[in-house]
Amino acid sequence: MNTAFLKNNFEQIFKQPAADLFFSPGRINIIGEHTDYTGGHVFPCAISLGTYAAYGPRADKKIAVCSGNMNDDLVVFDLDDRELEENPDHKWINYFKGMIAYVQDESQKLDHGFNLYVWGNLPYGAGLSSSASIEMLAGHVLTEEYGLEIDPVKLAQLGQKTENDFIGLSSGIMDQFAVNMSKKDHAILLDCATLKYNYLPLDLGDYEIIIMSTNKKHSLADSAYNDRVQECQEATNRLRQKLALERLGDIDEDTFDEYSYLINDETLLKRARHAVFENQRTIKAAKAMQDKDLDRLGRLINASHVSLDFDYEVTGKELDTLAQSAWKQEGCLCARMIGGGFGGSAIAIVKEDKAEDFKEKVGKIYQEKIGYAASFYEAKIVDGTHKL
Ligand code: GLA
Repeated sequence: MNTAFLKNNFEQIFKQPAADLFFSPGRINIIGEHTDYTGGHVFPCAISLGTYAAYGPRADKKIAVCSGNMNDDLVVFDLDDRELEENPDHKWINYFKGMIAYVQDESQKLDHGFNLYVWGNLPYGAGLSSSASIEMLAGHVLTEEYGLEIDPVKLAQLGQKTENDFIGLSSGIMDQFAVNMSKKDHAILLDCATLKYNYLPLDLGDYEIIIMSTNKKHSLADSAYNDRVQECQEATNRLRQKLALERLGDIDEDTFDEYSYLINDETLLKRARHAVFENQRTIKAAKAMQDKDLDRLGRLINASHVSLDFDYEVTGKELDTLAQSAWKQEGCLCARMIGGGFGGSAIAIVKEDKAEDFKEKVGKIYQEKIGYAASFYEAKIVDGTHKL
């Protein structure tokens, strides 16, 4: 990104020089889907598609926000305004407002406002965490301008609080953690129960990651996501009749099998089975990555999609078409949906010299089956939210 573009646009709109520039990435997840809110492991990394910002302080207590490509109108609100904007076109600004509210709770009242120009190349609603990208961007702008000392993990937690309490989505910590904490060319193996984490080099040899967007908007705020959270909670409660566990992430496959009779409901059984097995698969996949056993890593990633399809039932025909057609292509190690599901994106790990052919063939099948085009993105694995 040409930083002059950001500076110039900011100066033209707000008639003042920019104080600082930031980049906040999106994320993909290698494996460990729908395991964060059940205290399991996730294995995400940040990508070079994301959100850029330029900002400068104001003397009054207003925040003026303008986006180069998400919404061209200038939106102005007061620092102390906590009202949720119901206008779906302004949705991304709510993530900003949530962060302002919770950062204010954590630290002192913010005594003046700022002007902000935002520009993003992360497709909104494509399951690549555009919301967490904005939340962490907000966190960094606020931390910088007001000289706040907020631990980076705490900042990720305030992002999760924004989703949970401000937006109303019962999501876990994965997205904000990945966006804020990631390290170039590494994936983070994060235990969501303890928030202990390790950076593992994302060493894929002559393979590359291709991001495949269904171009079907997933609406995470839909009740389906929150339903899954509740179903896992109910299954956990039933297991607790005989088993001392806090979360589904606490038990392995064998323990689950022995006690699964306690659940006694087909849907709850499938949801819990996914959460338990996916967590164990994630631990195994991280080990396979460390052992440079790419074939095993690939099989575990495929198994993740199968489990999200049959047990967790969050895929849908668009994501299934992408994954299933990817599996059949020459040079494709593995593919699976990522993020919340019901649309959004999938990833495939493909031999570099087969990537073009892969995109063409999968794109053709998708167009024929679904009736509109999928999009393909290649992205670098980058550091979490930072100053430019
Ligand atoms: C969304 C949520 C995350 C996580 C994933 C599924 O991205 O924001 O917390 O639950 O779905 O793994």
